[in-house]
Amino acid sequence: MLLRYQVSDHCYMKVLNKLCKYLKLVCITAFLLPYTVVADDFTEMPVDAGRLEVFVECSRCHSMQIVNQQGLTRSAWEKLMVWMVEEQSMIAMDDDKEKLVVDYLSKHYSPEARKEEFQARGRLRYP
Ligand code: HEC
Repeated sequence: MLLRYQVSDHCYMKVLNKLCKYLKLVCITAFLLPYTVVADDFTEMPVDAGRLEVFVECSRCHSMQIVNQQGLTRSAWEKLMVWMVEEQSMIAMDDDKEKLVVDYLSKHYSPEARKEEFQARGRLRYP
């Protein structure tokens, strides 16, 4: 009786150990996944002045992918900044930072800069 009890106890521990291993894996993955997504968002951005400012300001509320899929002219980015502040409750940037951000966006996320990628993706129409 005692022996049987010890054996089943041992099995129980084995199963529990296995379960813990899986659980650890699931927890680690769930914890790290958002970081890898955010890291991708940043590393995909072209290296230039204003990159970090754009990333910090714009990925507060949404992924950079929402920016990445745009190809807008300077005046369209300027209007979007106003819309983001007035309609989406973005905190307004000071003039210097806004210039840096708009410079970066209109250089790297302009219709011309995005043209090749949009064509490669088969997007027939781009702004
Ligand atoms: C305070 C939160 C907030 C911040 C900060 C913010 N956005 Fe947004 N943005 C939103 C919301 C909310 C939407 C979605 C609006 C909708 O689809 O109705 C959005 C949508 C967008 C879109 C998609 C517009 C479209 O036509 O679908 C673009 C592009 C964009 N944001 C760019 C930016 C840029 C660039 C920055 C940084 C300068 C920025 N956002 C910062 C809240 C924010």
